[in-house]
Amino acid sequence: MSIVLVGLMGAGKTKVGRILAQRLEMRFADADDEIVEAAGCSIEEIFERYGETAFRDGERRVVARLLDGEPMVIATGGGAFIDPGTRVRIKERGISIWLRAELDVLVQRTSRRGGRPLLKNQDIKVTLEKLMAERYPIYAEADIIIDSGWHSVEITVQRILDALATFGEPASIGGKCGQ
Ligand code: S3P
Repeated sequence: MSIVLVGLMGAGKTKVGRILAQRLEMRFADADDEIVEAAGCSIEEIFERYGETAFRDGERRVVARLLDGEPMVIATGGGAFIDPGTRVRIKERGISIWLRAELDVLVQRTSRRGGRPLLKNQDIKVTLEKLMAERYPIYAEADIIIDSGWHSVEITVQRILDALATFGEPASIGGKCGQ
């Protein structure tokens, strides 16, 4: 199954995904990059010219296509898991991992690069706080939840690998039949 990283902008999905894919010797795909490639223009342009609904439609198609291919590590854009159609697809075909981060971490990381239409000309902290309130209950539906805080990417990746190693084990009966 593919491993699908979800979470807010600045949670570290792309950086973590790349290293995770290397460690698992799997292919890596960034859904945002795939959308840009398919559309032939930047995410900002897609939002400006066609609107968010068109972006979500494209995102749904791209994520579905990636999930239909060979198992890989997929970093999704922050809104992908929030879209009901995309979320259903991820739940059916992938192991979802929410990279959860606190507000200050997200603010610091998203301030480093632009290109995010939802944060453009906005108070980043206020906007992210609002998105956290709206989206965190939905990200919480992910199969695995990992804290992506101030610590290094390597530590986050190791935590994911540890969680994957025991994912799906029925903890309550684990090992009992061998006794
Ligand atoms: C979005 C997050 C972005 C990108 C688009 C919309 C969102 O991806 O898909 O700007 O709705 O949170 P990142 O989370 O990779 O920044």
